[in-house]
Amino acid sequence: MEKITKVTKDSVKQADKIAKVWKNLVAPIRPSKDDIKIYQKFVNKIKNKKKIKALILGSTPELRDLALKDQFEVIFVDLSKEIANTMKKLMKQKGKERFIRANWLNIPLEDSQIDICMGDDVFTMVDWNQWEKLLQEIKRLLIPEGHLLTKVFIYPKKNIIKTPDKLYQDYKKGKITIGDYTELLGLNFYDKKTRRVNMKFAFKIERGLWKEKKFTDQEFKKINSKTKIGNRDFFLTYPNKNEWEKLLKKYFEILDEDYPKDYWFGKISPIYFARARK
Ligand SMILES: C[S@@+](CC[C@H](N)C(=O)[O-])C[C@H]1O[C@@H](n2cnc3c(N)ncnc32)[C@H](O)[C@@H]1O
Repeated sequence: MEKITKVTKDSVKQADKIAKVWKNLVAPIRPSKDDIKIYQKFVNKIKNKKKIKALILGSTPELRDLALKDQFEVIFVDLSKEIANTMKKLMKQKGKERFIRANWLNIPLEDSQIDICMGDDVFTMVDWNQWEKLLQEIKRLLIPEGHLLTKVFIYPKKNIIKTPDKLYQDYKKGKITIGDYTELLGLNFYDKKTRRVNMKFAFKIERGLWKEKKFTDQEFKKINSKTKIGNRDFFLTYPNKNEWEKLLKKYFEILDEDYPKDYWFGKISPIYFARARK
């Protein structure tokens, strides 16, 4: 647990920087148009109910806007108060929200009160050995048969990993976006045992390319929240699809899943719509 806390603190430091440049960022770090469309499609399936109480993991402005637009009661949880406030400035909706500063693994709320829990790439930020605990915590807070709506990065079945040089060429040819490039570059540093990628190695390569003027300032802006971070560890977790779904099914029934199509990385970033088991 100590180790996890250390990682999380690090994630928060990185995230503070992300908030400041969120406007410039691209998918998959920031939800794309297609991501939002898919989230909305699934949210629409539960909208005919009473007033909905939504729990949002993280401060993602797009998800908070989506929930407020539909008049949901919104509670959002993030370890960083600074990022929560910074993101507020980027929102379109002005509705009232409740912010809780806490770790998602231990949220200070009573059991069985949330209708839907949403989070964009939130499992991705947590170590694999804590995913079950996170599922249990979400289920504890949900009403019976409450819903979970979340995008997860999946380690690809086929070997799609290309060398940094090849990826750079793909980006320059317009085959992938700069956001895809960043995450795919990270997969070069995947550790099968921990299922983690340490993004600091990808950021180092990107920073090098920028210094060599292979990225313009404009291009670099889209990723620089990360690349300016320096040499600190920044982990993302990618389980394989089977092991993740097996774990999810222990606590939830998978109702549907969909893949964003407006960026390459969407092929391995399914959005799951699931219902808590009784
Ligand atoms: C959701 S994640 C990744 C970016 C994501 N795609 C988004 O839309 O925000 C970033 C946020 O998660 C928060 N965070 C990371 N680990 C956390 C944890 N264990 N508990 C609570 N917040 C956490 C960070 O403070 C940051 O605001």
